[in-house]
Amino acid sequence: MGVEVHVKDTRRFKGGWAFFGFDDMVKTAKMTPKTDACYSCHQSHGAVDTTFVQFYPTLLPIAKMKQTLSAEYKKELVE
Ligand code: HEC
Repeated sequence: MGVEVHVKDTRRFKGGWAFFGFDDMVKTAKMTPKTDACYSCHQSHGAVDTTFVQFYPTLLPIAKMKQTLSAEYKKELVE
């Protein structure tokens, strides 16, 4: 098994986010290349800021209240 980490740093990463993978439990994670499908799926389908808030019942009402749902996610709801 591996460990994947989703890091937000708007100054460091284009698009504000990057994924890192600790394959084979190495000590230092490598950044997942921006061309990987991770980024496009999270960008197109994550409800809030590329994360999957829609699957967390305690977070979704907060996102609705604070109006942080992404345009991509809201578009998926009506289609
Ligand atoms: C086809 C869509 C898709 C692709 C491709 C994808 N993910 Fe995800 N990812 C999801 C979904 C859906 C969840 C939420 C799952 C859940 O909450 O149980 C998720 C959750 C996560 C999370 C938990 C935190 C968060 O952002 O919600 C991490 C970290 C993550 N994915 C990393 C990756 C990495 C790294 C890759 C590429 C190697 C990747 N994902 C590729 C759909 C995708």
